[in-house]
Amino acid sequence: MSASLVETAHALVGAGKGLLAMDESNATCDKRFAAAGIPQTVDMRRAYRELLVTTEGLDDCISGAILYDETIRQTDRQGRRLVDRLTDVGIIPGIKVDTGAKKLALHPGETITEGLDGLRDRLSAYRIMGARFAKWRAVIGLQDSQPTFGCIRANMQALARYAALCQEAGIVPIVEPDVLMTGDHTMERCFVTTENVLEILFEELTAQSVKLEGVILKPNMVLPGLACPVQEPVADVAAATLQCLLRSVPAAVAGIAFLSGGQSARLASARLNAIALRAVAERAPWPLVFSFARAIQQPALELWHGEASKVRAAQHVLHHRAWCNHAALGGNYSAVMEDDPACLRAS
Ligand code: 13P
Repeated sequence: MSASLVETAHALVGAGKGLLAMDESNATCDKRFAAAGIPQTVDMRRAYRELLVTTEGLDDCISGAILYDETIRQTDRQGRRLVDRLTDVGIIPGIKVDTGAKKLALHPGETITEGLDGLRDRLSAYRIMGARFAKWRAVIGLQDSQPTFGCIRANMQALARYAALCQEAGIVPIVEPDVLMTGDHTMERCFVTTENVLEILFEELTAQSVKLEGVILKPNMVLPGLACPVQEPVADVAAATLQCLLRSVPAAVAGIAFLSGGQSARLASARLNAIALRAVAERAPWPLVFSFARAIQQPALELWHGEASKVRAAQHVLHHRAWCNHAALGGNYSAVMEDDPACLRAS
């Protein structure tokens, strides 16, 4: 494994900053635009991504940004590549390379994430475009007797084959096994499933000779389902998340970057803060950061509403969310930061 892979991984997770996931596929981005009353056009998506990457001071809190295929090829209004706008301020560009979750044969209701065909060529093209890391998301749902062993095994093997191709191409793989929050399952059930999924993931990564020092894990936090009547306090979530990760993630992994998974922006920050504090107490061996999409973007997206006159205000809100999550990494987030204008400007 090249030294630069380890250096890139370290630059992404070792600087006390997090990742901005802005890699929604066109379909997902359009769905979020539709819900916020924003027209679903190429130019609106371009304008929105320009808003995100040109937010002043974002590099104070963000080490890397995950882009989608459409975005890595786009330019700002002055014709400058959005990738260059990121690298100019020291934010490392990354790229989502899976092609989405498709029906898994003979496993009704479950999916397999696709995108391995032709991936070697796509990775070398993305590297030329400036990508230094990549992301692949496997989706694991919890309902009735699911997930099945077949679903977990197939998805973890695909993640491992993707990670091997990335390292071959000199690109740091972010491996994202996402145990969904959808449903009324308990936190205990999420714990057991996440532990099982991670154990199989690391078995598959080892089988494919992937070097863990050049891998970033992007897991879910261990949480009760969104519809579960019992919602544990943040301290319990932090304890469960740390215990699960300490049991199943080798110390050699470069770092862990949590997804937000549909939590509210404030709750995600509060839980991240509790996890960071717990990690220090438990002497966790890896850096822990965030790689949020919804929990960092959603308030800004809603405020922007597709209107040019609201770009600055939306950028301010985006920066504030990034700042809150950055503070959480040091255990310094508190609800006071949400409404205090002094904190807002400090951000
Ligand atoms: P959320 O933070 O909205 O879960 O998104 C993270 C991500 O990258 C999904 O693949």
